[in-house]
Amino acid sequence: MDAREAREFRRVKILGCGSAYYAGQLGAQFIEEVARMPADAEPASEFRYRNPVIEKDTLYVAVSQSGETFDTLVAVQELKRKGGRVVGLVNVVGSSIARECDGGIYLHAGPEVAVASTKALTNMGVAFALLGIHLGRIRDLSPADGRRLVEGLQRLPEQIETVLKDEERLASIAQRLASAENLFYIGRTRGYPVAREGAQKLKEISYRHAEAYQASELKHGPLALISPEVPTVAIVPDDELVERNIGALHEIAARSGPLYVVTHPQVDLGEVQAEVITVPRNETELDPLLMMIPLQLLAYHASRALGHDVDKPRNLAKSVTVE
Ligand code: G6P
Repeated sequence: MDAREAREFRRVKILGCGSAYYAGQLGAQFIEEVARMPADAEPASEFRYRNPVIEKDTLYVAVSQSGETFDTLVAVQELKRKGGRVVGLVNVVGSSIARECDGGIYLHAGPEVAVASTKALTNMGVAFALLGIHLGRIRDLSPADGRRLVEGLQRLPEQIETVLKDEERLASIAQRLASAENLFYIGRTRGYPVAREGAQKLKEISYRHAEAYQASELKHGPLALISPEVPTVAIVPDDELVERNIGALHEIAARSGPLYVVTHPQVDLGEVQAEVITVPRNETELDPLLMMIPLQLLAYHASRALGHDVDKPRNLAKSVTVE
């Protein structure tokens, strides 16, 4: 698709399941922010059943690690039947979804052996960033901002190494988290898909009940459930919403809810009592990618602390190829 063709699209719609859907939510926010195109993500499993209106000026993106998830594959087929243009962000080369799409980007995450997707997830985020930068640069994104974001992407591997060095501490935190029956994961805007993915991983491999919520919605209901037995993992990046996020932490602390805060070294939590997990700062738009890493390690170590097999969780298959 050349630049002239790609400029005809006015909207982006991303389809995937599970972690791929959450990566898509992150991607949609990135694209909307950077390329200034309305973008959203929807579970492919819902999209395929609701007889959606397919628009010619919408760029559809199917995202999948395995490339075999049946719900995503059928969503792509339905799109094509109705004349939609769909590109794939797929890890497994030559897989069914990759073959069915009009074009796409391979994720090159390497073989994903465990059932729960981990490294492919980060590569999905990077692929969405590249797509967003591309769509932005053929619209209003300045060369300087494009370069700033590409340089941010180049810094990611080293910064991820820094987070991984904290593994021992994260393992001991995970042990405490694993003793809770119910947990909240909260975040706002860019941090919300991060929270959703963190909760999903914990559910998938440690079988703890983890619920993700927008930090902004807490006061509209779920605060009632906060207690000393219900820990909250909060995503608090150093961005324009930091003060509001800290406000939510105060609400939780006032109800004696234990707090685990994934944040940046620059953030001052003031009087909030919390276990703090810091990750290095990148560019604001790319920060969610780094914040996902400690959450994966927390889920991994919580599962191990409970004596579960992290690679082969119960009731899950590597690729869900059934209805
Ligand atoms: C299953 C797995 C999830 C995965 C999802 C999508 O639900 O348990 O971990 O995120 O499928 O898989 P895909 O291969 O399409 O990325």
